[in-house]
Amino acid sequence: MSRRKRKKLIFIIVILLTLSVICFTSVIYLNNRKDPNAFMNNNPSKDNPSSSDVDPVELSLRKETYFLERNLSRYLRYAKENPSKDMEEVVRCVNANIDSEFYTNVVDTNLDDGLLVLVNKYHKLASDYEPDLVKMDTKYSYDNKYMNAVAYEHLKDMIDAALLDGIKLYNISSYRSYQTQTDLYNRYVNKDGKEAADTYSARAGYSEHQTGLATDLNTADENKHFENSPEYAWLSKNAYKYGFIERYPKDKEYITGYIFEPWHYRYVGETVAKYIYDHQITFDEYYAYFIEK
Ligand code: DAL
Ligand code: ZN
Repeated sequence: MSRRKRKKLIFIIVILLTLSVICFTSVIYLNNRKDPNAFMNNNPSKDNPSSSDVDPVELSLRKETYFLERNLSRYLRYAKENPSKDMEEVVRCVNANIDSEFYTNVVDTNLDDGLLVLVNKYHKLASDYEPDLVKMDTKYSYDNKYMNAVAYEHLKDMIDAALLDGIKLYNISSYRSYQTQTDLYNRYVNKDGKEAADTYSARAGYSEHQTGLATDLNTADENKHFENSPEYAWLSKNAYKYGFIERYPKDKEYITGYIFEPWHYRYVGETVAKYIYDHQITFDEYYAYFIEK
């Protein structure tokens, strides 16, 4: 074979090889385009569905700010059972466990959460749980009351600051033992019946007052006037600066399980209180999204 012919043959072989590589790569690419997940991992496509496979309800749920992957199947079930609720409400409710009846699926409060412990109708404290407490001064509280030391320091700052603005605040109920809460709840049940009592009083073990981190300011009954008082106006604007949140806000009864309590404040620290204030969410929702593992 002449040199020229050999060169021509090599050239043809190179061209053929190049074309086969191009063909082979294109076939693989086109195949994979049908199932993009095959490129990403070995899981079946049901674990990583392409957007065209995903239920539109799931797609809109995923766009919600407080969407939690671990709650997906519960959101879907709750959305189906409550077609009138929008996706934001579905996420809110499920994160706060409202897809279960109050006082069902109850777990123990995680005491490792420290100042951010959650106590509500799904998270309970043991009957023998007694936090570390300090005695409160009568300058800030009715006599003989106790509170968590950190919360108390901030409460004093808040009460002092309010006084400079001409607002008089004082604690009337802070720490309540399991036994005190039992007596209180039973008294309300005898007075108004269980169903009504459950809307404004916690059952023993389910009250934030047992943590020593909560305070009822100035009034602690169904005093509708407190809502319209200058004291409440001041607290609404300033409590978060001292690390306190309104724990049972108006229009959030369906989340907290309690009627609006403008007098009940819970210490969570300045950073968390500011977030909750800025975003107008309940502590139950904050806990689900930022703390609960
Ligand atoms: N009033 C609040 C909910 C309590 O009893 O702890
Ligand atoms: Zn209270």
